[in-house]
Amino acid sequence: MKNKTSFNFEKGRIVSSKYEIINKLGQGWEGEVYLVKEIDTHIERAAKFFYPERNPKNKTVKAYAKKLHKLRACNSLIKYIAKDTLEINDEVITYLLSDFVEGYTFDTYINSWHPEGMPFYQALHLFYSVVKALEEIHINKEWHGDVHSDNIIIQKSSLSYDLKLVDVFHLAHGEKGSIQQDVYDLCYLLYDSIGGKLNYKSQPKIVKDICCGLKKTLIKKKFRNATQIRVFLENSTWE
Ligand SMILES: Nc1ncnc2c1ncn2[C@@H]1O[C@H](COP(=O)(O)OP(=O)(O)O)[C@@H](O)[C@H]1O
Ligand SMILES: [Mg+2]
Repeated sequence: MKNKTSFNFEKGRIVSSKYEIINKLGQGWEGEVYLVKEIDTHIERAAKFFYPERNPKNKTVKAYAKKLHKLRACNSLIKYIAKDTLEINDEVITYLLSDFVEGYTFDTYINSWHPEGMPFYQALHLFYSVVKALEEIHINKEWHGDVHSDNIIIQKSSLSYDLKLVDVFHLAHGEKGSIQQDVYDLCYLLYDSIGGKLNYKSQPKIVKDICCGLKKTLIKKKFRNATQIRVFLENSTWE
């Protein structure tokens, strides 16, 4: 692998004599994620294979694993299981195993069912679940660092939304991240879920009170962490 092309592992491929590739779950800036089956036990896992240039000296994988381990009590986060390696064309590739989250990304969910934007009441319910997921991390004085629609997996949507966060920030991206940045990203997420600019004007007060026209200074004055947004949601009139 000379540069970040892709691994494109085929179904049925065996890695490290331990796991069988079932299918690709997604890909992003750092690597590709596959559903794998542990050969001995038939247990399914998610395996994230890091592009070597996005994982210099294995720093990315180690920092990612450590952050997931530190936040292991957070129910909203995937759990770190193990890391392993395989060799491709004399190059060592590291991959990280976590629990497999069945569902759709926030992005897929919106694009499939609400391409024009969600009705605000439903958007607020989904938003509330994401806020609560983030709150678990913020309470530990940590931040996710990359809150966006591809890093949120919706497992179940019924009376409420069950979801899991993947891809926590782990020193490899240029920016450092912060709890406040997570808060800005949460506001962008709500803004996008109601259909963005096109629908924003016609939104009720509650949505505008949270998104603040996406002005960071205004958002910062109101919300410093996910808890403050949750408390605001729980104590405001939605309609
Ligand atoms: N544990 C998991 N279970 C199910 N799907 C996952 C899991 N982890 C990642 N994915 C899928 O793979 C995609 C890329 O994974 P991610 O860790 O976000 O990689 P990147 O850092 O390259 O963005 C995600 O957007 C999601 O669709
Ligand atoms: Mg991602």
